[in-house]
Amino acid sequence: MEIIRTVADMKARAAAWKAEGLSIGLVPTMGSLHEGHESLMDAARAASDRVVVSVFVNPIQFGPGEDYEAYPRDLERDARICERRGVDVVFHPEVDDMYAPAHNTFVVMETLTDSLCGASRPGHFRGVCTVVTKLFNIVQPHRAFFGQKDAQQLAIIKRMVADLNMNVTVVGCPIVREADGLAKSSRNAYLSAEERQAALVLSRAIFAGKAAVEAGERDAAALKALMGGIIEAEPLARIDYVEVVDGVTMQPTDAIGAMALVAMAVYIGSTRLIDNFLYEEGE
Ligand code: PAF
Repeated sequence: MEIIRTVADMKARAAAWKAEGLSIGLVPTMGSLHEGHESLMDAARAASDRVVVSVFVNPIQFGPGEDYEAYPRDLERDARICERRGVDVVFHPEVDDMYAPAHNTFVVMETLTDSLCGASRPGHFRGVCTVVTKLFNIVQPHRAFFGQKDAQQLAIIKRMVADLNMNVTVVGCPIVREADGLAKSSRNAYLSAEERQAALVLSRAIFAGKAAVEAGERDAAALKALMGGIIEAEPLARIDYVEVVDGVTMQPTDAIGAMALVAMAVYIGSTRLIDNFLYEEGE
């Protein structure tokens, strides 16, 4: 496995692979890799001749006061994990190489980014869409793999790829959970032992909401009340949002329709965690 540290070298490697007729799978990450990322690598490995994992903490998707500086960085550990999963290249560019001082172009999406995390984190998805577009242009993947845990991000990237006629297939992969239910996240590392226990309230609310929908609940307000009540019972938890949106447009809805996303962001202490489930009629 190789670590490529410049945009120019990564572009040259991707071009050489393409000239050989090899298919490329990309797993975009910000590092601090966990089993959720590993499942994306496995999916990429199974579907591609060459697998690239990008490890880049993207400054422009963090707002003022967010955790850009504190975001855990450990390339050696990440590289070991990638090597174990049979990754061919870790792409780890410098910030200045990705964003030259004169950088002045951004990818901005309209309404899909208004709700959920887009409402709580203004500018976040502008940063995500911009860096993902750049990664697609640099790595030239045939397929790119994203986790369903960031459900709005996945919906937005699928929309962006369709809208801008990008030559890449976006593959969504299921949420990976700890044995006790907590969704795997790089930010779980911020939790104290007490907070780690309190964080289980997210998956408890998700499982209760899912069970209610499976039992026939279709009223979004009732569902939000049920899930919100579970979270509010945990003293260390503070709700950012619990929302029901259309699974494609990401717009809030009053009733669970053919495809709905039930999503939440909750602060446990000062750590903001997200979780969700997708309801698809007939699934
Ligand atoms: O999901 C993430 O880790 C990031 O948002 C991504 C897609 C790697 C872009 O920086």
